[in-house]
Amino acid sequence: MFEIEQKVMDESRQGEAYQGNLDTLSASNKHFYIESYGCQMNFSDSEIIASILQTSGFGSTKDVEQANLILLNTCSIREKAEQTIRKRLTEFKKIKRKNPSLLIGVLGCMAERLKSKLLEEEKLVDIVVGPDAYRTLPQLIEEADTGAKAVNVLLSREETYADIAPVRINSNGITAFVSIMRGCNNMCAFCVVPFTRGRERSREYISVVNECRDLYDRGFKEVTLLGQNVDSYYWVDPITNHAVDFAMLLEQVALISPALRVRFSTSHPKDITEKVLQTMKAYNNICKYIHLPLQSGSTRILQLMNRTYTREWYLSKVKRIRETMPDCAISADVIAGFCTEDDQDHLDTLDVMRISMYEYSYMFAYSERPGTLAAKRYKDDVPDEVKKKRLAEIVSLQNKLSFESNQKDIGKKVEVLIEGDSRKSNLQWMGRNSQNKVVVFDKSDTSLQPGDYAWIEVTDCTQGTLLGELVS
Ligand code: SAH
Ligand code: SF4
Ligand code: F3S
Repeated sequence: MFEIEQKVMDESRQGEAYQGNLDTLSASNKHFYIESYGCQMNFSDSEIIASILQTSGFGSTKDVEQANLILLNTCSIREKAEQTIRKRLTEFKKIKRKNPSLLIGVLGCMAERLKSKLLEEEKLVDIVVGPDAYRTLPQLIEEADTGAKAVNVLLSREETYADIAPVRINSNGITAFVSIMRGCNNMCAFCVVPFTRGRERSREYISVVNECRDLYDRGFKEVTLLGQNVDSYYWVDPITNHAVDFAMLLEQVALISPALRVRFSTSHPKDITEKVLQTMKAYNNICKYIHLPLQSGSTRILQLMNRTYTREWYLSKVKRIRETMPDCAISADVIAGFCTEDDQDHLDTLDVMRISMYEYSYMFAYSERPGTLAAKRYKDDVPDEVKKKRLAEIVSLQNKLSFESNQKDIGKKVEVLIEGDSRKSNLQWMGRNSQNKVVVFDKSDTSLQPGDYAWIEVTDCTQGTLLGELVS
């Protein structure tokens, strides 16, 4: 899935926290503070949670000391993600000692994975809520206010929060995430998500299109359609029996306006269809960028991982994407050191990366997760030092591929959606091109604003950024 900048380090992708910073404050005397960890689905959920709490009279605060309720929206994807949360909880406990009426809630994937065990392990936690139970949060808070411990980790086959208008957290007012489905029906052997997020279900088609249209009407210029596996989006109208697949949804969102960029994440290589590629090609405003997780370049390991494709199948998808849209960027997720991986398997992974010429990748060392198929069936037998060494080689190859890809852009003219000041200087704008590459350029034209599109000629690059000049 996407982030502002290419992240190439283990854990960096899922380990960042964003603090509660809502765009609306209520006059309420009850205030919540929220931190989100993990993938964009979790960040998107925090916006739903903020909406639910606001409706029940809570205001938000960025200052943890002012909060009556601290919420952590957690991730379980790797062990380190959970360690980060436990460390954060220890810090919050100090605040709670000073203010005993403060409630602490753990939400999201770690809440779902550990359920009430979390209350035994982390004594000062008052509320535990899984990803499908956020509507019950107001009642759970009331329960917890009476001194009881409150838990709801029921997973649902229907919940999509379709009717809840998310309150945009930390919004730049230009780009927004829109969840189109929840859960996952794949059973990748390494992955905890099917256990923490439950069965896959697609959100009502019209509610997705309406949310995107509303964002555009409010000045947003880019929407990213989110799901663990967007290509299996499938919604059937209960009255007309009319079925909508992902390509159709993508087209309807693209039709809202040519000035609204559309992105999506994540595609599973087994499910991305020719129809989706043709839809992408047909609309300029559907960004030419596909996140196509590889995980491993060895067919033997892919089989153990239960990814249901082979190395050849994966490479044929990459080839098809490049043939259909020569300007399309591709990124991947790669895992180093899955069970039984040997040197040859690792070389196969490097080889697929080289052939695929990824613009960027998210790379991780394998971390065994309790309850997953891999934890039950296989031994986590690749020593840590070997995992680290292989990961370092993968990262180093990707750095080289990213740099090469950026160098090829020098001299090209690219259309950039301006998001704000560049990180290094408020005399420069930062935005992204269709391929999701970060582009930085001088603010030579004073009429430009964040949210505007600008044509930039690329003049230089680093491994993570294109540098350019405004084309007059
Ligand atoms: N459906 C999403 C998966 C989200 S998890 C997708 O396909 O992108 C994001 C990534 O985390 C996965 O693609 C995988 O590369 C990595 N990951 C998942 N479980 C892991 C584990 N146990 N150890 C290391 N990396 C893992
Ligand atoms: Fe996990 Fe696989 Fe589902 Fe992605 S597709 S969430 S990796 S089980
Ligand atoms: Fe983490 Fe849950 Fe997302 S485990 S990666 S927050 S779906």
